[in-house]
Amino acid sequence: MANWYKVSHVDEIEEDDVIQVDVDETVLCVYHVDGSFFATDGICTHEHACLTDGFVMDGVIECPLHQGRFDIRTGKALSPPVTVDLKVYPVKIENSEIWVQLGE
Ligand code: FES
Repeated sequence: MANWYKVSHVDEIEEDDVIQVDVDETVLCVYHVDGSFFATDGICTHEHACLTDGFVMDGVIECPLHQGRFDIRTGKALSPPVTVDLKVYPVKIENSEIWVQLGE
């Protein structure tokens, strides 16, 4: 069952920045890109690296470990060594608070 979780406030994530949020067992990255907010899995699909330690630019997150890149909006793996897409999650804003939907 899918549930919405309040993960942050819009003022807490600067433009072109990312924060890590843990919801139960799930590690998420929540991004602020071009005035919108997005959420993906927080761990790289290549090896165990926290993407919040990576670099955000032009809607792309670059992994800190081997510089694999993912599209923040779609989770698509863009460059080697990453080949598996990141999971992305629905995001909504209510009263300036950021909510992410997890679960099936
Ligand atoms: S762990 Fe992310 S690219 Fe290798």
